Amino acid sequence: MEPAVTTTGLERVFGEGDIAVRALDGVDVEVAAGELVVILGPSGSGKTTLLNVIGGIDAPTGGTVRVDGVDLADLDADGLTAFRRDHVGFVFQFFNLIPTLTAIENVRIIAELSSGAGAAESRSALEAVGLGNRLDNFPAGLSGGEQQRVAVARAIAKAPRLLLGDEPTGALDLETGRQVLGLLERLNREQGITMLLVTHSAVIARMADRVLHMRDGRIVADERNESPQPAAGLEW
Ligand SMILES: Nc1ncnc2c1ncn2[C@@H]1O[C@H](COP(=O)(O)OP(=O)(O)OP(=O)(O)O)[C@@H](O)[C@H]1O
Ligand SMILES: [Mg+2]
Repeated sequence: MEPAVTTTGLERVFGEGDIAVRALDGVDVEVAAGELVVILGPSGSGKTTLLNVIGGIDAPTGGTVRVDGVDLADLDADGLTAFRRDHVGFVFQFFNLIPTLTAIENVRIIAELSSGAGAAESRSALEAVGLGNRLDNFPAGLSGGEQQRVAVARAIAKAPRLLLGDEPTGALDLETGRQVLGLLERLNREQGITMLLVTHSAVIARMADRVLHMRDGRIVADERNESPQPAAGLEW
């Protein structure tokens, strides 16, 4: 079976000459469909850059990214927009909700941009994250954990094949963070959504099928976890 994600010799250099930063310096990785992968590494090691390049938010300066068999370099601007919109869910550290839209509007605006998902999908995504009774709340009237669950609902309403999370629980307390991770875990196990989650926490990494360690723009270790731990039992 075709891997969900394949990168080959992936490079991303920012700037030129003396000030050039090699944010990605030859990343070769394959992620199987349905895998839950955690990416660990020190600040500045290239984790966000890797997610952005895999998600088509940023373009590499060398090497290739294939997602579900499609080389992203073969897509034109419209094709890349369609890829991001229809196939990739993003969850960021700071929720990125639109403050002037309610929970359901925040989900719908993204769902409706992508093909075929609308009000019904938005509602069921919010129900799936346990917010079926908060559809009409504005972000300011939701706790941090609830806002992050809206962000997860927004990412899953379009039934993405790939979900990319950049410190999705970085701004949450332990209990709330565990709830959000439990939710991601369930979506991975039940819906088979391939997930790449960046975290600073070695404890969170225990929930993964596989842990990639990054340093200086490279993957320096790639560990398979034979017995992933349920998010609900993690302490950090
Ligand atoms: N737009 C940019 N312009 C210039 N340099 C950049 C840019 N984005 C990232 N970098 C540099 O690339 C390197 C990798 O950055 P990246 O954001 O991927 O790290 P990270 O592993 O996500 O770090 P953190 O854990 O702090 O979020 C860093 O040295 C960073 O300064
Ligand atoms: Mg980062």
